[in-house]
This record gives sequence, C-alpha cells and structure tokens, in this order.
Amino acid sequence: MLLGIDVSTTGAKALVIDERGEIIASATEEYPLHTPRPLWSEQDPADWWRGVQGAIRRVLAMPGVSARDIQGIGLTGQMHGLVLLDEAGNVLRPAILWNDQRTGPQCEEITAWAGGLKRLIALTGNAVLPGFTAPKIVWVRQNEPTLYDRISHILLPKDYIRYCLTGEFATEVSDASGTALFDVGNRRWSATMAGLLEIPMGWLPDCHESHVVSGEISAIAAAATGLIAGTPVVGGGGDQAAQAVGSGIVRPGIISVTSGTSGVVFAYADSYAPEPDGRLHVFCHAVPGAWHAMGVMLSAGGAFRWFRDTLAGEERVAAAAAGRDPYDLLTEQAAAAPPGAEGLLFLPYLTGERCPHPDPNARGAFVGLTLRHGKGHLVRAVLEGVSYGLRDSLELIKGLGVPIEQVRASGGGARSPLWRQIQADIFGTELVLINVTEGAAFGAALLAGVGAGVYRDVREAVDAAVRVVSSTTPDPAAAQAYEALYPLYRGLYPALKPTFDALA
Ligand code: XUL
Repeated sequence: MLLGIDVSTTGAKALVIDERGEIIASATEEYPLHTPRPLWSEQDPADWWRGVQGAIRRVLAMPGVSARDIQGIGLTGQMHGLVLLDEAGNVLRPAILWNDQRTGPQCEEITAWAGGLKRLIALTGNAVLPGFTAPKIVWVRQNEPTLYDRISHILLPKDYIRYCLTGEFATEVSDASGTALFDVGNRRWSATMAGLLEIPMGWLPDCHESHVVSGEISAIAAAATGLIAGTPVVGGGGDQAAQAVGSGIVRPGIISVTSGTSGVVFAYADSYAPEPDGRLHVFCHAVPGAWHAMGVMLSAGGAFRWFRDTLAGEERVAAAAAGRDPYDLLTEQAAAAPPGAEGLLFLPYLTGERCPHPDPNARGAFVGLTLRHGKGHLVRAVLEGVSYGLRDSLELIKGLGVPIEQVRASGGGARSPLWRQIQADIFGTELVLINVTEGAAFGAALLAGVGAGVYRDVREAVDAAVRVVSSTTPDPAAAQAYEALYPLYRGLYPALKPTFDALA
C-alpha cells in the first residue's frame, strides 16, 4: 500500500491506494486561510502539520489499512509558498502563499537585477510572477528585516511537512521550479539567481528528483501520526506535476486540461524548451529527465459559474424544484444553439488573465449580440469562449514543438458531455476521461511506489493505475466552423485592450 499526502490550500488529504491504483482509504482535514490585508494570503504551517497528522491518523484507523503495510509515502501540495525557519527549525512567520499578490514591485526588481526578462528566462526558464517564492523572500528582507536576519532555512509547503515527518530539509525538482531560484533546464538550484538576489545557498533545501527517497519517518513523527518509523518518504511533486502523474501525463502527446474555477493546460515535454516570452510556465516534471509546459487561465469553470449565479435565476429555481443541477438546464439550452452560437463570441477574462495575456486589466465581453440571440446562445458562447481560451495555451505549447494527440479532461468543466464535445471540436483532438479523480495525492502515492521499488519507474506506475474510461472525438463540421471563428476570437483581446485599460 502507498500513502499520498496533499497539503492543499483548503486542507490536508491523506490517500491510501494499492498497487493497482484502487482507493483503500481517504481523509481530509480542513484548515483556515488568512488574509491579513487585501491581496495578502497566508497560512500557519502549524495548521498544515495538525491537518496532516489528523488525516493520517484517520486513514490508518480505516478498515483494511495498517501502518505496517504502507511501503512508501509521497508528498504533494500547493506550490510556491514561502516557509521561513530559524536555525532550530522554528517557523518564523506565517507562510506567504501562491495566491498572495503583495510582491508586484519585487518581481519588477528581480527582473531588473537579472538583466531583463530574456536573461531571467535564460536563467530560470520562466518570467517571475507575484505568486512565486523568490519575490516573497525579497519582500520579507525589505519589510521585516529583523525577522529576515534570523532565517536559516527556506522551505515550500509540502517540504515543511517533510521536515516534520523526517527531520530532513529537502525538496524535489517540480516544486523547486516555481521558486524563480531554480535552473529548470539543468534541474538544480541556480547559484547565479541566488547570488543576484543575495540569498544564501545554504538556506535552500537539498533538491532530489521527485521519486527519490528523501528521508524516513522519524521516531517523533511515528509517535505523532501512527506511521511506522523508517517508512520511506519520496520527493513527491508540486500539486500540478503530481496531479499530472496521477492523470498519466507522462508521455509525449498526452495533455491534461483541468477546468475548475481556473483552467490549467499541462503538457509533458521530453526536452527543455522555455517559452521565449515567458507566457507559459516551463517546469521540471516529476518524471526524471522530463519537463512540462503549463498555461493557466484564470476564469474557466468560473465563467460558467458566474453565468449561473448572475443570469440563471430561473434555471436555479426550476432545478431546485425538479431536483436537478442548474448547469444541466443551462447546457440543454446551449445544445439547441449551433456551433458558433450564430455569430456570438464571449471573452472569458472575468478576473483578468494570466495566460496567454498576463494582464490584470483584461475583462470579459459578449461580442456580436443581436435580437436573435437567446439564453441558449449566451451559454453556448460562454462554453466556447472558455474553450478558445484553453486553446490559446495549447497553441503556445504547440509552438514549443510539443505534440498534442490526446487531451485528458478533468475538473467541473469536464462533467458536461456538451462542453467536452465543444472542447474536442475547438481543440481538434480526442478528449478523454480517466478513472482517477483523486488528483495530486494519487500521483504522489504513485511516486512513492516508484521510490519504494513497487514500480520500476513512473511510467510503469501510471500503466498499472491509470485507465481511459471514455472518449469524445471531434465532429468534423463543428471543428471546421470553430477553426474559422478562432481567429476572430483571437482578434478580440488586442482590439479591446485600450478599452480595458481605460475602464480599469
Ligand atoms: C501552480 C499554482 C497552483 C498552486 C496551488 O503554479 O499556482 O497550482 O500550486 O494549487
């Protein structure tokens, strides 16, 4: 049996699976998120550790699970967060999280210190975003200098839990990639970046490949959790890389599209190629010798939810009366409108955008409205507009020379058969669903299996546990219609950009 632990933004999850990927036990313990000021986002690492202990204790108490049978443990979690420890390993301040927006000025400074965007991309593979770790370190130096002087160790969220479980200061390549201190091409810390930012290399944890054993459960952690001392703990992965392992995104041509509130397009790449303008994240994959390219769209399922909450009062009432889901009533109306919604386009930038337009001022729009358009057209345009936005990331990925043969869909946006068909038609590829719905913790457990010797490598783990369960193929006529409309969608953002800036 294998144990995956996910330190997410909402809670800690412990997941026990067997070698064939069957779920044996799962438990989640929630913890709070603090916003001490607008745009700040922090959590207490002690809450993570309490949550992890609780979740582990609960799965170990479930039928069929015994701590003696756990062959390996894999860690995953929210990426980018900054945990600061003093020399004795005490936490110095609340962790500053991936979705904290305080560090815009520090990102500009870092880009300048690196000698501009091109050199930064040459050093780290990526542009630096406020969510990333390095600007948070610089912010602490500038705003909390006394505390800064006491720093001895810097850890990412899941790696703080590794420290609690094993006493080791360690990370792995996929999570380290999101710090802006990592040489993604060479899979090691960038001494150049650390030097430019005047961050001591000694503060950074040892960095392993994701499946490598980084330590063992300590006697103290065994007493705290019920695990057996000596159980191996592998590197694991950042939540995106671990989720991709759990979805089988470990070979060229296989891409995942996850549409929750935001949309993430994730592609496996067997060689290193950064996006020349830093519009995609290019990070080390949790597969040795592989990378991944990732595009993040801020409003995917979130755009459809906005529509339901603001424009679908009638459907919400009707759905409640009939015991149905208002989303289903909306997609039924959308299905009655033809592909292209009779000349109606929707721009999905309801919360600004990250990829392909890193622009907080970007806004949403319906363009092409006529008297003929009814609610079904509007819904269809929303589903299509989000799918075009996801295609923008796919096009950037194709531009890196990465092949796209099969898209694996997950998240709320994959539930609707109509939306899956629209995505297949707009992407022009097969779109499939898989058996795994447990996300990142599942991938972390598979990585543990590799480290523990249950599987020979990550691909063997995936072949044992991940299966395609349904497939949607593009409809040629619809795909052709969308191919003609996509350039019109692409033209909307540049045309409206001056208006968005003026409105903001
Ligand atoms: C990845 C990212 C999120 C966080 C939180 O770049 O920002 O996936 O890891 O889930």
